[in-house]
Amino acid sequence: MKKTGMFGKKFYEKTLTIKHHPRTESAVVADKTRLQKAIDCGCGTGADMAYIAQAGYQVSGFDVTFDAIEICQQRFKDSTAIKVTQASFESFTYPQTSLIIANASLFFAQPESFQQTWLKLISNLVSGGVFAGDFMGLKDDWARGHSSPITALSKAQVMMLFEDFDLLEFHERDETGETRVGVSKHWHTYSVIAIKKLTFSMQSKDLKVEK
Ligand SMILES: C[S@@+](CC[C@H](N)C(=O)[O-])C[C@H]1O[C@@H](n2cnc3c(N)ncnc32)[C@H](O)[C@@H]1O
Repeated sequence: MKKTGMFGKKFYEKTLTIKHHPRTESAVVADKTRLQKAIDCGCGTGADMAYIAQAGYQVSGFDVTFDAIEICQQRFKDSTAIKVTQASFESFTYPQTSLIIANASLFFAQPESFQQTWLKLISNLVSGGVFAGDFMGLKDDWARGHSSPITALSKAQVMMLFEDFDLLEFHERDETGETRVGVSKHWHTYSVIAIKKLTFSMQSKDLKVEK
């Protein structure tokens, strides 16, 4: 499966030198489970995976884009802690984990199957495990008329995803800014760090995502 779309070699060359996200550090600190297994969803060039592996985790990273996986395979060829797979949010088989990172990637999950994807994504996150990542808000420029499907959610819909979690951080960004390749756009995102509670019962809830 060779898929590049908006994320091509040029994008990844620009991101190859970036540092891991500070939120990833906070998520590692918040994970008290000692399982030390992590998933990086839409891992890109792997800055977060490098950090998490160095913190002692076994990391499974996946990305739908061939170029990202090729770069990661080369970058982590000597690491026994990092395994990368070319897969989408929808097709990945989520192993048991205590840490899920989805930095700037869940925006691109398929909107029509987002609820099932989300339930799959968190189903093997152990109690006490941590989710850290971003969601696209309805006012983002990409929420309307982007070249690829976008999952954009209201604040209430994002909150609903975390009914069975304790929120540690919740940050809304609503401002004009630049993409990593220097293009100006309006950003509307929700960034979350949350810990899965001991009881988990979201399966019956119905989340309707606008297409
Ligand atoms: C903005 S980049 C973020 C990369 C990385 N998480 C980071 O923070 O540097 C978004 C990534 O999500 C990946 N992506 C887009 N759609 C995806 C999908 N449906 N399933 C998995 N990954 C996807 C892209 O290929 C890209 O590498």
